[in-house]
Amino acid sequence: MHRIVLLGPPGAGKGTQAVALRDRLHVPHLSTGDLLRAAVAAGTPLGKRADDYMKAGQLVPDELVLDILRDRLSQPDARSGFILDGYPRNVEQARALEQITPIDAVLAFAMPEEDLLDRLTQRRNCPKCGAVYNLKTLPPKKPERCDNDGTPLQQRSDDTREAVQTRLTVYNEKTAPLLVYYRERDILHSIDATGTPEEVRQRIARALSLSGESDSSAEAL
Ligand code: AP5
Repeated sequence: MHRIVLLGPPGAGKGTQAVALRDRLHVPHLSTGDLLRAAVAAGTPLGKRADDYMKAGQLVPDELVLDILRDRLSQPDARSGFILDGYPRNVEQARALEQITPIDAVLAFAMPEEDLLDRLTQRRNCPKCGAVYNLKTLPPKKPERCDNDGTPLQQRSDDTREAVQTRLTVYNEKTAPLLVYYRERDILHSIDATGTPEEVRQRIARALSLSGESDSSAEAL
């Protein structure tokens, strides 16, 4: 079964690769960031509580995120596997996740910090279909319009320089310790997240030993 966690700093390409993996493995992409942003957009009580934390680049309190994650993982489409993007973010969340489901593989995206800020400040999102673009590396065909539905693209409120710096600090302090946590459980695969999306996709396929890709460059830690 493919119960996969994507771990990595903001902007490392987790969401981009999650979509490719979802299409290849036919399991849902569960992003706690997307679930939280949907709650914010819908103005639910949870969304109202999460909004300020997210804009500032801080983690939303564990109990709020756990509620939406548990709910999403209990839905029928997640029973035969999932790609979990954005959870866990600290050791407490990893322990909570273990109580809900086993995990088969953790893909840890590695990328130099100086390149992440550039990727994130150039990112644009479609508020309608969720497609992700990059003004430098993956521009839409028409300026600032979604290729799928023509909707004007938006910039995430936490993609400002200040919020990105906070997100990087939070990642290093709270999320990076999970690398040791999952290495000790022998399910961690380090993925070089530099290069083109296609190059990263191939590294992931090799790390997961997906058919058609030889296991030459991915490193199981
Ligand atoms: P979340 O939505 O999870 O954001 P993140 O982890 O900061 O990651 P990003 O979505 O910013 O980056 P990504 O790695 O997916 O990169 P992408 O593929 O888009 O979380 C947001 C907030 O929600 C958190 O700060 C927190 O407040 C809250 N939250 C979420 N989960 C939580 C939890 N569990 N607990 C508590 N709080 C939680 O790529 C980035 C850009 O680069 C794009 O423009 C893309 O087109 C481009 N790109 C991608 N790959 C490549 C490539 N190979 N080459 C060139 N460009 C590329």
